[in-house]
Amino acid sequence: METVFDLAGLHRVVNQWKREGASIAFVPTMGNLHKGHFSLLERATELADKTVVSIFVNPIQFGKGEDYESYPSTLEKDSAGLADNNLDLLFAPDLKQLYPGGVDTDTRVFVPELSNILCGRFRPEHFSGVATVVTKLLINTQPDFALFGEKDFQQLLVIKRAVSDLCMPIEIVGMPVIREEDGLAMSSRNAYLNMTERKQAPLIYQLLQSAAQRLRHSPDQIPAIEAEGMKALETNGFRPEYFSVRRTDDLAEPKAQDLRLSILTAAWLGSARLIDNVKVLIDS
Ligand code: PAF
Repeated sequence: METVFDLAGLHRVVNQWKREGASIAFVPTMGNLHKGHFSLLERATELADKTVVSIFVNPIQFGKGEDYESYPSTLEKDSAGLADNNLDLLFAPDLKQLYPGGVDTDTRVFVPELSNILCGRFRPEHFSGVATVVTKLLINTQPDFALFGEKDFQQLLVIKRAVSDLCMPIEIVGMPVIREEDGLAMSSRNAYLNMTERKQAPLIYQLLQSAAQRLRHSPDQIPAIEAEGMKALETNGFRPEYFSVRRTDDLAEPKAQDLRLSILTAAWLGSARLIDNVKVLIDS
């Protein structure tokens, strides 16, 4: 595995691969890697001749008072894990590489509508920050495939939309949520949970699963399912932001004829903001 810290190094390696006719699969990350990230890398190695992972904690996707300053940086450990998992190239730029003009007046990529709902209501700058940095990374890495986890399902749709609208010839691949044995979706932010909260956290997935079962049998009861999900989270010590049933394809509010639905939730537990989702197919 080779590691590069600047765009010139990234271009050098990628251009060489392009000359050789190799295909490239890319996994962007903010580091602090867990099994979810490694499942993306495993699929990336199946899809393409060469694999690139980036590690960059992107300041502009964090709101004021969020955890940008304290976001765990574990480059040495991540790097060893990636080398053990057959990665070809690690790109670990600093802020100046990706934001040469500074972050305040930087050009932004914004996906309308999708960026303002669900998580976007509570994190107004977040998805524009994600779309902007992912666009920069994709332009410079020039992959054939880029892989993202479905835990951040709204992020995946925002990126798919940005890539399609900006006419980038890249296939965006969504990969299933990877869970702990007790069902908690793997996330770097789970490290913020204390022991009591960690035991409580899998309830999110249990509530999503029972809501999914009810939705399958009673798709006309969406408002009650959403209200009860919120209430169950509150009574169990979470501070929920939303518990919503949406269309899987575009996260719009479902109409009676929609059969491909998702239930998505975001809730605080102590100082951890947890998100999760499940898909539901309604029988036609
Ligand atoms: O999902 C993440 O880790 C980040 O949002 C991403 C896609 C690497 C952009 O910074």
